[in-house]
Amino acid sequence: MKRISSLEKKYVQEVLDSQFNSKDGAKFNKLLEKKFKKKFKCKYAIPVANGTAGLHIALLTFGLSKKDEVIVPALTMSSTAISVLLAGGTPIFADIDPKTFLIDPKSIKKSINKNTKGIITVSLYGLMPDYKEIKKITSKKNIFIIEDNAECFLGRSLKNITGSYGEFSMYSFQSSKHITCGNGGIITTNKRDLYEKAKEISNLGYPISGKKSFTRNNIQDPNFERHKVLGLNYRLPELCAAVAYAQLERIEDLIRVRKEAGKKFKKIIKEFSFVKEQKVPKGYIHTYWCFPFVLNFKNKNIWFKFKKIFNKNGGDFFYAAWKPAYLEPLFKTIYSSTVINKKYSKGLCPNAEYIQERVVQLKTNYWAPRRLNAQLGILRKTLKEIEYEYLSKNL
Ligand SMILES: Cc1ncc(COP(=O)(O)O)c(C=O)c1O
Repeated sequence: MKRISSLEKKYVQEVLDSQFNSKDGAKFNKLLEKKFKKKFKCKYAIPVANGTAGLHIALLTFGLSKKDEVIVPALTMSSTAISVLLAGGTPIFADIDPKTFLIDPKSIKKSINKNTKGIITVSLYGLMPDYKEIKKITSKKNIFIIEDNAECFLGRSLKNITGSYGEFSMYSFQSSKHITCGNGGIITTNKRDLYEKAKEISNLGYPISGKKSFTRNNIQDPNFERHKVLGLNYRLPELCAAVAYAQLERIEDLIRVRKEAGKKFKKIIKEFSFVKEQKVPKGYIHTYWCFPFVLNFKNKNIWFKFKKIFNKNGGDFFYAAWKPAYLEPLFKTIYSSTVINKKYSKGLCPNAEYIQERVVQLKTNYWAPRRLNAQLGILRKTLKEIEYEYLSKNL
């Protein structure tokens, strides 16, 4: 199987053949929106320029000010926290559950105060967090949830798919994700008012409904007032929508490839006592955007030994985890100018910091089984060498 098939090429060609004729201008955006809603069982969907833009739009609908706090997990790609800053709010970092590597409901509970406006939950690596507990905490409070499902398409937690729990759900189509168009994304919601606000913000504030809608007649009227609210141009280009739509038609196959790789990697790491896996709670379905495992030695430098041996053995490119955002230089500067006066230094979220320095994130998008099988052998060989070298040394 190929990641980009003749279908993506066919749809792209269709857009090019249309000469970007404005009459057909949004054909694939509309098809993408319709199919996504059906597949992800939600009422509204808005294709957007990228996942970060999607989070930004969703947050802007809630009109944050600096004293408004949004809780985000400490272990994730930094767009989650950056989008809160972009929307004018203040990110507060919750620690992770050391077993699942996902935002810990206990830490959420501790972080909530009178300024808390919302939570961005992240389905890290393709696994949804514990929404049963999270909802228990937020149910009697006026706190929004935005699901960051950039890394999780059609995952399940207790029979519910991604997007079932939040006011919004965001999916990324960036090049490493389950379905891609190079860069792009989509946000979904089940609430009409939020959809309308988000749609307008994503499209320069153009009105979407009522008397002032963007009809041909209105465009041909010099008195037409276009800008109802302040918005951004976060539209998904039609060429990208064509690719994303083809990928959506093939989504089951694209997810299956990753899940199969995840299952096979899991079998290998179970042979090694010093390797800690991401626990998948009962009733959850992991979609394995990547396959994470922790080299569970006190000495974090074993990670670098692993990297060296894995590369020497012919291992494929793999990712290190993102630093907790609050340890990034950007956040250090930003925090000195926020209204909250807290220390954002090492030790704030110890579980996230421990895992972040020791986790290996293997890619799972193997389109040729032969290549995956070779990597499985290389992983086992590497872990055996680590076991031989370091396990007995009590590191
Ligand atoms: C968890 C998470 N959130 C947000 C993003 C941002 O998405 P994008 O790159 O499409 O802006 C990504 C990945 O890129 C991600 O992995």
